[in-house]
Amino acid sequence: MSQPDGQSNTLDNLLEENRTFPPTAEFAAEANATAELYDSAAEDRLGFWSQQARRLTWRTEWNQVLDWSNPPFAKWFVGGELNVAHNCVDRHVEAGNGDRVAIYWEGEPGDSRRITYSDLQREVSKTANALSELGVGSGDRVAIYLPMLPEAVFAMLACARLGALHSVVFGGFSSEALRNRINDAEATVVITCDGQFRRGQAMPLKANVDEAVAGTPSVEHVVVVRRTGTEVAWNPDRDTWWHELVDRQSEQHTPEAFDSEHPLFILYTSGTTGKPKGILHTSGGYLTQAAYTHSTVFDLKPESDVYWCTADIGWVTGHTYIVYGPLANGASQVIYEGTPNTPHQGRHWEIVQKYGVTLYYTAPTTIRTFMKWGSEIPARYDLSTLRVLGTVGEPINPEAWMWYREHIGGGTAPIVDTWWQTETGAIMISPLPGVTATKPGSAQRPVPGVSVGVVDENGNRVGNGEGGLLVLDKPWPSMLRGIWGDQQRFVDTYWSRFAEQGYYFAGDGAKYDNDGDIWLLGRVDDVMNVSGHRISTTEVESALVSHPSVAEAAVVGASDPTTGQGIVAFVIPRGDSAGETTMATLREHVSHEIGPIAKPRQIMVVSELPKTRSGKIMRRLLRDVAENREVGDVSTLADSSVMEQITAGMKSGS
Ligand code: WTA
Repeated sequence: MSQPDGQSNTLDNLLEENRTFPPTAEFAAEANATAELYDSAAEDRLGFWSQQARRLTWRTEWNQVLDWSNPPFAKWFVGGELNVAHNCVDRHVEAGNGDRVAIYWEGEPGDSRRITYSDLQREVSKTANALSELGVGSGDRVAIYLPMLPEAVFAMLACARLGALHSVVFGGFSSEALRNRINDAEATVVITCDGQFRRGQAMPLKANVDEAVAGTPSVEHVVVVRRTGTEVAWNPDRDTWWHELVDRQSEQHTPEAFDSEHPLFILYTSGTTGKPKGILHTSGGYLTQAAYTHSTVFDLKPESDVYWCTADIGWVTGHTYIVYGPLANGASQVIYEGTPNTPHQGRHWEIVQKYGVTLYYTAPTTIRTFMKWGSEIPARYDLSTLRVLGTVGEPINPEAWMWYREHIGGGTAPIVDTWWQTETGAIMISPLPGVTATKPGSAQRPVPGVSVGVVDENGNRVGNGEGGLLVLDKPWPSMLRGIWGDQQRFVDTYWSRFAEQGYYFAGDGAKYDNDGDIWLLGRVDDVMNVSGHRISTTEVESALVSHPSVAEAAVVGASDPTTGQGIVAFVIPRGDSAGETTMATLREHVSHEIGPIAKPRQIMVVSELPKTRSGKIMRRLLRDVAENREVGDVSTLADSSVMEQITAGMKSGS
């Protein structure tokens, strides 16, 4: 038995999805991507990457594209030297584009700032000078705990300019999570703000830092941006206002060139168990793949496009597709501080209209939320400027994909479903707009230069129509270089499962359809096994949300004495349809979509689903409910009261 049990039976409902949307001739004629890119990368992969690296400005040219003599420790563009911040800022000014807007910043309360590349150069230089004054130098770690403010971008780039590593901690994390991350990286400086606007309210932020740094021996300085005017406690030996420190600095700062493999940042991400892993990225390879994918996958035309990635800077998507990719490419982009429903549910579309956004990148969960709010909301705005739409973070179900295309993309904008991870640093699998005939729900093919495989549990390749585990079988420039302080864990987590073949194990299930296109099935830890059949939670969720009465669904495998696991579904009914559809109808619907094997054992109606701040559903917690266990650690939930509501609902409902 070489194939993961039953996985070839999964996603049949998705694989019956046979709509394709070829690019229009007009789009293809102007597209950055071409079909030849695949050929040239296949012919000479390292030569291809070498060409991509020329998107950047190097102080010293590399003498070897890839050193893979000591796997899994890769070195890309060996001997090359560059300054990442110079590439993202100064060189655009030097090329005469200093007046181009880099950032259209939109505050939640409606204030806004317009920052050109020349402004950015001044701000980043001042910030770099300020950090130097605080003793930050090459190799030091700076923790950044900020909401979506321009200062977060300045701070990240100032670190890059100095060769210091930033560790951005999402502003929604607790003080304890912040403390652990600061301690793991031994950061000497923390950059934060007084408070942040969230759903119309000013929420304190510095107070969390005060609590965190009570237990962080490495921290010498806390720099505080004034945003909300919220009163803060002050430790004069440690705390400095950003405006007092940064504003008086010189606007001149000469960037130093660093080795291509010089560390750029640490970003913590949760593993399946244990403490968060500090994923380490380095300079030349990371920036190369960030710039290349941002240009090719989003078809960026820096002179005319207005790009908007709705991710938070605290996640890898914010690092690669707000800061490094777009700025390396000289893009003009929107950065929005707040939530999509503040002060109303049309806020995103109002912003698209205001700035004439052309490229929009968000998460499937956000799209499903918009669906729940109703298509009449985007219909009130002029979205005709949008020409490429992207998604990231989880598999997108065909219904959400079609809704996105119709109601946001005007029925014409290509959708790029981009698969990648914190660890991969940049996009790995995605359609290319202007080249690929897109399919609702499929990420389709690795981007040129990237090589992936779907293998069975023994590492053997599966064929078309079959499923298995996603692996990356060749090193790529933006690959993680390790886990901060724990290289053994790096080897164990990603490289031990297929050590013999030397594959990187991504932790995702995937399947080839009959055309050889890839469909992601969700984390393998979320794959259920029912009577020896492997069924993806994603697949059942997709079936459920394809029913008109369901707005959102989360599915878990709960242990079952007879079948191994039984499927338990949690559904949020859509608007006024609640109550009309019986649970029996939904079970039948799933059975009809996938097969009787996928029929949920139990369906529970809930009003919210437990999600992390990045929008991922925490199935682990739902599994606790489904298995009648005490609910586990809820500290990473965006709204920690959700689990109480769900369990209370269970008790009163049963
Ligand atoms: C999932 C986010 C399906 C996947 C950039 C991966 C996706 C994990 C997709 C990484 C996609 C991301 N289709 N699944 N287009 N994009 N994922 O580290 O399970 O926050 O392993 O990086 O998200 O999440 P991370």
